[in-house]
Amino acid sequence: MRNAMVDGIVKWAKLSDATAAAMRKVERHRFVPAATLKEAYTDDTVVTRRDEAGIATSSASAPWLQGMMLDQLELRPGMTVLEIGAGTGVNAGYVTELVGPSGHVTTIDIQPDVAEDARTALALTGATNVEVICGDGEYGYPANAPYDRVIATAGAWDIPEHWVEQLKPDGLMVVPLRMNGLTRSVAFTRDEHGVWHSKSAVNCGFMPVRGDGEVIETNVQIAKDVVVRIDDGQDLDVEALKDAIADSGEVEWTGILIDAPLDLLDFYMADMDGFCRILAPPSIAERGLAEPMNGWGSMGAATPDAVGYLTKRYGPLHPKLYELGTCAYGPQAQAMVDELTKRVYAWDRARKSVTGVHIEIHPSGQGDTADALMTIDKRHSRVIVRPA
Ligand SMILES: C[S@@+](CC[C@H](N)C(=O)[O-])C[C@H]1O[C@@H](n2cnc3c(N)ncnc32)[C@H](O)[C@@H]1O
Repeated sequence: MRNAMVDGIVKWAKLSDATAAAMRKVERHRFVPAATLKEAYTDDTVVTRRDEAGIATSSASAPWLQGMMLDQLELRPGMTVLEIGAGTGVNAGYVTELVGPSGHVTTIDIQPDVAEDARTALALTGATNVEVICGDGEYGYPANAPYDRVIATAGAWDIPEHWVEQLKPDGLMVVPLRMNGLTRSVAFTRDEHGVWHSKSAVNCGFMPVRGDGEVIETNVQIAKDVVVRIDDGQDLDVEALKDAIADSGEVEWTGILIDAPLDLLDFYMADMDGFCRILAPPSIAERGLAEPMNGWGSMGAATPDAVGYLTKRYGPLHPKLYELGTCAYGPQAQAMVDELTKRVYAWDRARKSVTGVHIEIHPSGQGDTADALMTIDKRHSRVIVRPA
């Protein structure tokens, strides 16, 4: 079953041979003892803890994402690695395999029972070059520093100075970075001025880092099945949004036909006022609201005067492709639709030459923002996203 799982990932994700071999070897099911073998070896997240509200607080991440992040980490035998977010311990198991007996892995989890379970599972699988620590990963683990690699497996809102201090100067850090509701697993290296530059970025979702580095996303329900999720301390006028979504809407069709996910388009909307994630299922179309672009919803914007997002429709232009559209509700719906549409066309013009994004982390207040798609001032740093 392990081989079948890895074969399935390798078909599309181009994993390195070393990562694929580690994932074939480590007994994943030992780390998720409450799951069935089928669940353990399906290429999906296995949730292992939830809070009282039912929100997942720990899991084994999806194997495809673990594999891609392990490749981003560029591990070699003998390396020392710090992981923030031990979870089930399975990713630490893969890392121990990749750094070999001459390497060492320190993995931290903030939840004592989670750390204990990870310790037990790692011991069961015979891993010896790994230490599981219970604590707040915000502070890293100085006792085992310096590290060749730092990896976070929870969504980080900012990069704590402790991770940077504990990483060797030529070290590499892989962090699922949260940027106004967009998360990318970013492999960062540092230049001689102390600026971090992305080497690669993988589109993903992660439960947020808790503890002292915590900046929790806010989910606000504005209609049945329609939730606005905001991040980065943005403000929302909830009553105005409830009124807006109940208002008549505007939809504009762009004539742009799409057949693949649109990672990059989100960044072309990212500096709009009220940029946010709108979570809503396709079934809202039955109530007369436009269908969001993705099954889970779409990126869009929410202001006191309008709420809008990307939408899609099949045909009439082509039976297999869908046409990208924009929609908005509220007193300023037309202005919001115009703004969203302008962004879609800007992305459409750029997408022949722009293949991805370059993400930089500068000291607070620094860095040239002239050609930026997105600039976010965090607590300790400034994140700048540019077209690449
Ligand atoms: C998605 S799970 C990690 C998946 C894990 N690496 C695996 O392979 O099973 C995220 C974990 O991060 C932990 N976490 C969240 N905030 C943390 C923090 N500040 N320090 C350490 N662990 C944290 C959570 O308790 C949770 O277990």
